[in-house]
Amino acid sequence: MKSYTLHRHVQLFRFGDPFETESLCYPGENLIPQEEVELPEFDIFKNNGITVLTYQLEKQDRVIGLGESVGGINKRGRVIEAYATDDPIHTPDKRALYGAHNYLFIAGNKNLGIYLDFPGKISYDIGFSHPDRMIITIDGGDFDLYVFRHDDLLEAVRSFRKLQGVGYAPPKWAFGNQQSRWSYDTADKVREVADNMRKKWLPCDAIYLDIDYMENYKDFTVDETKFPDFRQFVEEMKIRGFRLIPIIDAGVKIEPGYHVYDEGVEEKYFCINEKDQPFVAAVWPGWVHFPDFQQPEVRQWFGKQYQVLTDYGIEGFWNDMNEPSVFYTEESLGTFIQKAKECEGKNIDLEDFFVLKDLFEALSANPDAYKKMHQISETKKIQHHQIHNLYGFNMTRAAAEGIEKIDPNKRYLLFSRSSFTGMGRYAGLWTGDNYSWWEHILLMIKMLPALNMGGFLYIGADIGGFGGDASPDLLVRWTQASLLTPLFRNHSAIGTRNQEPYSFDHWTTEAIRKMLELRYALIPYIYSEYMKAALHHDLYFKPLSFEYIDEHSMEVEDQLLVGESVMMAPIYQENARGRYVWVPEEMLLWKTVMNHQDEFQVIKPGHHYMHLELDETALFIRKNKMIVLADPAQNVDLMNFDRLTVLAFVDGEATYGYYDDDGETTNYKLEKNIKMMIRIRQHHNDYQIDVELKSSVTISKIHFMLTNPAGEFAEMDYDVSSGEIHKGSN
Ligand code: GLC
Repeated sequence: MKSYTLHRHVQLFRFGDPFETESLCYPGENLIPQEEVELPEFDIFKNNGITVLTYQLEKQDRVIGLGESVGGINKRGRVIEAYATDDPIHTPDKRALYGAHNYLFIAGNKNLGIYLDFPGKISYDIGFSHPDRMIITIDGGDFDLYVFRHDDLLEAVRSFRKLQGVGYAPPKWAFGNQQSRWSYDTADKVREVADNMRKKWLPCDAIYLDIDYMENYKDFTVDETKFPDFRQFVEEMKIRGFRLIPIIDAGVKIEPGYHVYDEGVEEKYFCINEKDQPFVAAVWPGWVHFPDFQQPEVRQWFGKQYQVLTDYGIEGFWNDMNEPSVFYTEESLGTFIQKAKECEGKNIDLEDFFVLKDLFEALSANPDAYKKMHQISETKKIQHHQIHNLYGFNMTRAAAEGIEKIDPNKRYLLFSRSSFTGMGRYAGLWTGDNYSWWEHILLMIKMLPALNMGGFLYIGADIGGFGGDASPDLLVRWTQASLLTPLFRNHSAIGTRNQEPYSFDHWTTEAIRKMLELRYALIPYIYSEYMKAALHHDLYFKPLSFEYIDEHSMEVEDQLLVGESVMMAPIYQENARGRYVWVPEEMLLWKTVMNHQDEFQVIKPGHHYMHLELDETALFIRKNKMIVLADPAQNVDLMNFDRLTVLAFVDGEATYGYYDDDGETTNYKLEKNIKMMIRIRQHHNDYQIDVELKSSVTISKIHFMLTNPAGEFAEMDYDVSSGEIHKGSN
């Protein structure tokens, strides 16, 4: 083991000769090894190619991080596996989901962060087998272990994030509401969705095209029988204010004459089997090959293919099935069919039945397939299993780099299902195939900060749940809980109840419209906080314990801090008309109610029961903080960001750095500065307001809505060019 100091608080311990994942982007080649640096926190044991790191957990230690996984914000008591898996049933016993996120932070008397840069399987037994031990089992002996030893946990996260570079910046319209379903499978069906959204005044920026827009599920094709004159259709929808977002799957259909297949075979761009022939597996199109995204030239080739769709005017994509998902292979199907034949006509006994059942279940997501598949890395043939977790990351990197070449100055929407650390530089992710279960609202809440810690910022779950049937109440509460998730998309599976906000009774549609309007009103704040987090390696979602050190804040699992000014505490239980909320400091409760004036109330620190009817949405504004709002519109392009509203809770003095940019181009990389500094000084119910514009921007008017700790409310208008203030409501 060699060790290196990257920073006063960050050390790298290199075990053996690790595979270069490119998850981080600091200049690693300049590292100078050091003698005798210790790693006292871990017992290290190596055996049979496996490495086991054991950490002694103190009673008060909380273990947070590990990104996309089931379990709480505090993962103590769980086993989590980092092995990208297409498993659509996210029950509490599941150990692996779509992403592999090898970072965790131990918060206790001493804080410690680690990142394991290793592309194969790792298992984290966090006090499951033994209550006071964390046992990390790495399926190999060559890996990098980064250790972050900061007193402040947030600083540890920032150090880790800094190693990954600046986060992905989506276009501003991608913060609007997005409507999806598997599938809106014809142009007319998409038109119908658009008509309904507009007819019911439901703001919406994008409609999704799931696998059925393609010709026989072939990537980079469009089925002209279902979508005649696609270019014109994309334009028609754009004029109506909707972007279309097609899906791209990892598997390339085996079909001579299909150009992606032909080129891939010709150039040897596909993953191979033991005999160096293209590896074959089945996914949506039937038999497919998987592009070998490990090779830079394959990434370039695949990235270029997106141009077929960008030339049609497409401005966003979702990459799917990129664990990669395997429905079956010839071999696994053969074994199953063989067994089934043996059983045919027989009165099968229990043993045969279970063998048959197990063989059937093992058809999909069977790790054996990954052992037979191989990839090439710098001329070396590597078993896919050993670098399995990089597949989705590299597919998405291929897309991002390809799109950047196609259209260098424009931001595209891009997110992926499978992911690895570092993908947050290129794209976002969604949390895959959840269910219309109330439990999955809470699961989403718990995953959000864990994903952010790993640099995944543009994130969200399928609102309303993907599998199963959503009840109207579930959709309403899920929409409320997602109010601030950067990716805000309602998506559902084929065969389930329709789940668009207009698919239920009139009351439900109205209630959701109110929430969508609130979402759009919040976009200036969401965008400002998102971009600051992306540019400055910060967290958009934080557990309370990152800011408050009282004993309750350490334990709260169903409330989050969002950006610097807001605490969210949504309702996620069926039939609940309220919930208990831990309020760690004095805050301003802002309640929006359908068909009523908004309500504001100063809440003292402590435990409170918050009554919230189904149509009531609550947010908490932290003390001496503010949020920036704009008038909602039917889509983001129609919003006017020149006239803003600031909602603030001021006890003495509050300041806020507001970030904005053109929301479309990559110019944000040149000027990462905040756009406007707002300072509000409060004395009783009198306020002094200073607004300093930091760049040549056009903000003409700001309406201030101010509350002091006595609960007194004041409103005033601020004319930005003259600096004049007019008291009273506008
Ligand atoms: C996968 C995706 C899901 C999509 C479906 C069909 O299950 O996770 O979002 O709708 O495939 O493409």
